[in-house]
Amino acid sequence: MRIIRAKDYDDMSRKAAIVLGAQVAAKPDSVLGLATGSSPVGMYKLLIEWCKNGDLDFSNVKSVNLDEYFGLTADNDQSYAYFMYHNLFKGINIDVKNTYLPDGTNPDVANECARYDAVIDSMGGVDIQVLGIGGNGHIGFNEPSDVFKLGTHCVTLDKKTIEANSRFFNSIDEVPTKAYTMGVGSIMKAKKILMVVNGEAKAQAMLDSFFGDITPRVQASILQMHPDCVIVADDAALKLIDEKFPGAVK
Ligand code: GLP
Repeated sequence: MRIIRAKDYDDMSRKAAIVLGAQVAAKPDSVLGLATGSSPVGMYKLLIEWCKNGDLDFSNVKSVNLDEYFGLTADNDQSYAYFMYHNLFKGINIDVKNTYLPDGTNPDVANECARYDAVIDSMGGVDIQVLGIGGNGHIGFNEPSDVFKLGTHCVTLDKKTIEANSRFFNSIDEVPTKAYTMGVGSIMKAKKILMVVNGEAKAQAMLDSFFGDITPRVQASILQMHPDCVIVADDAALKLIDEKFPGAVK
């Protein structure tokens, strides 16, 4: 596990885009595991810029996303399918037929989880998995729990997650209470992990996840066991780590 320090959001985005861009440049048919949320948006903007100026080619890239709200259609502007199209896919030359997300409109949970696990398996391995982190240490929508889940499952969202994500909705009542998410087992199978973290609201989660015990109460803590995990975090997100473990992150 390597934590790369960034000054601020823009610096984090640039450093993370270099890591992801290098992956695509070195292996043009890469399988990307992608994430939503405000954390990766700046990185996605740079990838769009680098694709438009000819530095990156996504025409042979495939992608699988971490999660999707239960019950939202892909054309709902709060769905993660909509987010991915508008924040990345429409700006790069990826073939949208090669981009996959869980289908939030499938009410048959067992069927959808099996379908999405088969999609992930059919990719032959994720080369790099982008992650953000929740204030409670969640990755994807793997919420604090007594266990780490292996495969895709449907979760009831944590109260804190619903509150945090309500900023994107007109009111908190509109936030879906359930979501489909890739399991921690699938995330851990990715060859490389690239986590982007910014802001003081994530400082506790960073401390607990990477300087504490490995526990499903803090799902991101399992990333300590990943053989190639790169975390790009800004100074604000590193605040508590810097206080408690001065010098630990250069
Ligand atoms: C959301 C997503 C996560 C994301 C996290 C942080 O609920 N399911 O994949 O990493 O919360 O979001 P943000 O980057 O907006 O802080």
